[in-house]
Amino acid sequence: MSFKMTDKVTWVGKIDWELRRFHGDEYSTDRGSSYNSYLIRDEKTVLIDTVWLPFAEEYVEKLKEEIDLKEIDYIIVQHSEIDHSGALPLLLKEIPDTPIYCTPNGKKILQSTFHEDWNFVEVKTGDTLNIGESTLTFVEARMLHWPDSMMTYMDSEAILFSNDAFGQHYASDLMYNDLVDQCELFEEAIKYYANILTPFSALVTNKIKEVLSLELPLNMIATSHGIIWRDNPAQIVHKYLEWADAYQENQITIVYDTMWNATKRMAEAISDGIKSVDDTVTVKLYNAAHTDKNDIITQLFKSKGFLFGSSTVNKGIMNATGGLLEMLQGLGFKNKKAAAFGSYGWSGESVKILEEKLKGAKLDLVEGGPLVLWNPDKDGIKECFDFGVKFAEQFK
Ligand code: FEO
Repeated sequence: MSFKMTDKVTWVGKIDWELRRFHGDEYSTDRGSSYNSYLIRDEKTVLIDTVWLPFAEEYVEKLKEEIDLKEIDYIIVQHSEIDHSGALPLLLKEIPDTPIYCTPNGKKILQSTFHEDWNFVEVKTGDTLNIGESTLTFVEARMLHWPDSMMTYMDSEAILFSNDAFGQHYASDLMYNDLVDQCELFEEAIKYYANILTPFSALVTNKIKEVLSLELPLNMIATSHGIIWRDNPAQIVHKYLEWADAYQENQITIVYDTMWNATKRMAEAISDGIKSVDDTVTVKLYNAAHTDKNDIITQLFKSKGFLFGSSTVNKGIMNATGGLLEMLQGLGFKNKKAAAFGSYGWSGESVKILEEKLKGAKLDLVEGGPLVLWNPDKDGIKECFDFGVKFAEQFK
């Protein structure tokens, strides 16, 4: 499949309907994904990004149906991660001298990944490449989300090729934001932001302000994953500004892992306590062992506060909560209150450990979460309810 986006620009990527795990097992892709590659035909011909390694052969064969590869004058590698650069070795076997435009970091990473001495041309923010009626302008986007990331602006079509930024892991042959289900689209866009881009939020804000200050016309944002934004493309830019600014909704999320449901009962009693204070707040409960970790992270990102609960096991906490807390350390969520609770049989370390980990993630800790022996009795349930009240009152 390929399709024309404008007279000059053709999508030549790959929709990956089967993908269910990305970045190893770090990211769930329940709706698949796509690797978007773009062919620009002006007086010169330019290829922007390629596809993931397993699709390299198929990609090069289909590209040959679209164009004689020898007609490609330049390749732009906006990001060297192999979901976009994976087809380069095969492609460059056919056109070995084609210049590859990338950032200095991109060159380093490509060389360390593929160990090939290709014809690299290093570019930085503001550098341009005239290809006839169009000029391509490069904008480095360091750490969004790798040190090499960059975007490319095409003036004649007013398209920003944004690479990973503004993308979503979302397979759809409709390919444009105005054609797909809006709930699915924004669910995938916020999941992508929460799980991949949150650590770089300050950079996101600065980069967007820098690009907006140029007041460039914008017909499309052509991402490297998922659909292309063509209907009011600025809407996703403004969403990113919101998400990057210590985002929260009126939601409290309770995450727990439980052996014999004592911690689960505690979670439910805490939820009742929260609701007794504020019946407008959305409270969501997740058993960490039974729920996709990236979906939980997305819910935590949307929350103004969250609680973690775990049984004590072997003087520690259960592994599903442990894994999520490890993710939270790196993500650096801002503007969130957090608390812990748990149950135990004899040693009872879970609450202390959870609190330490929440503090380590630089969350605003509400201390003194309940720790209940074995199964909560009436008093234990009341203690949890009361802690839910205390937690909810922090937001008044
Ligand atoms: Fe889609 Fe960072 O690669």
